[in-house]
Amino acid sequence: MKTTLELKKRIIIGKYNMGKLDKATFLEGHAKNQLQNLEEGSVQTCVTSPPYWGLRDYSEEDQIGLEPTPEKYVANLVEVFSEVKRVLREDGTFWLNIGDSYATDGRKRRSHMGKGKNKGYSAWMDKSQAPGLKEKDLIGVPWRLAFALQKDGWYVRNHIIWKKTNPMPESVKDRFTTSHESIFLLSKNNQYKFNQIKEPHKTAPNYEGGETRGHTTKDGKKWAGQQDQRHGSNINYSEGGKNKRDVWEMSVASFQEAHFAVFPEQLPKNCIKAGSDEGDVVLDPFSGAATTGVAALKLGRKYVGVDLNSDYHDIAKKRIRENDEVPANHDFW
Ligand SMILES: C[S@@+](CC[C@H](N)C(=O)[O-])C[C@H]1O[C@@H](n2cnc3c(N)ncnc32)[C@H](O)[C@@H]1O
Repeated sequence: MKTTLELKKRIIIGKYNMGKLDKATFLEGHAKNQLQNLEEGSVQTCVTSPPYWGLRDYSEEDQIGLEPTPEKYVANLVEVFSEVKRVLREDGTFWLNIGDSYATDGRKRRSHMGKGKNKGYSAWMDKSQAPGLKEKDLIGVPWRLAFALQKDGWYVRNHIIWKKTNPMPESVKDRFTTSHESIFLLSKNNQYKFNQIKEPHKTAPNYEGGETRGHTTKDGKKWAGQQDQRHGSNINYSEGGKNKRDVWEMSVASFQEAHFAVFPEQLPKNCIKAGSDEGDVVLDPFSGAATTGVAALKLGRKYVGVDLNSDYHDIAKKRIRENDEVPANHDFW
């Protein structure tokens, strides 16, 4: 087992030899700086959820998320993620979970927010003051960031919707309640490692081998539905199930010890299964309570987590140690 001091020494001495990494390695500091210590082309896939714009105050000088404008926030993330691109293998992928928000004056909502474990962690900034935004505007953060990453050379390959089964209730009466977040699949090149995930067909294949979209008629025959009739041979049906869809229904997870939202374990699990194989290195530059790490280790991958706050690394290590489903957790960090 390596002490933090030994790890720090290794950082100072030079770049990490990823082949010699422990199963789980935790690096403390600004994501951009810490990533510069990792070898080029050494990570297979990155799964992360950065701090959202104007949502939380992590009480750290170098924190990302409290920039005065969405443009500055996006620019800071693009810088971090260009280091992610450098450390990714040529066939590597990047899975980015990011939520949107409205241009509101957070200070007005002070009395309603920041209760319980999040007390003192909510960001009280006035997002409506950013140039180009009016109070109540939906900011469009996920696509602003995706377009900026595209401009920086990333391939934007999927926009996945995380449909929340238990979204946070909202008191608004002039719009609908937000119940989803975005997950982008980005790649370094136009060819990349991708293990297709299959889902069971919900309906039986029809007589032509297609997935029946219609219904069963009175005499028991399947009505193939309009699209099937148009395409005749039904290209959608395949043995072993259909290609996983881009809407993922998952509940919001809670993790008592963290002062921020953790994503549900199923989210990084889907990404890691698709983007890597056993033994590959998985990275999260905004590690937090290391939900990506827990998922990676359970799936037999190595994990590198970066966070500004070493307290979160301690929480993550305890979480991993106490998780019976994480195999052979003796040579971590
Ligand atoms: C939303 S949390 C990540 C939660 C994580 N996905 C999980 O499930 O546990 C964002 C994390 O980013 C960290 N953070 C904020 N600014 C950072 C920076 N500049 N470099 C590295 N980490 C940073 C915060 O300390 C926080 O732990």
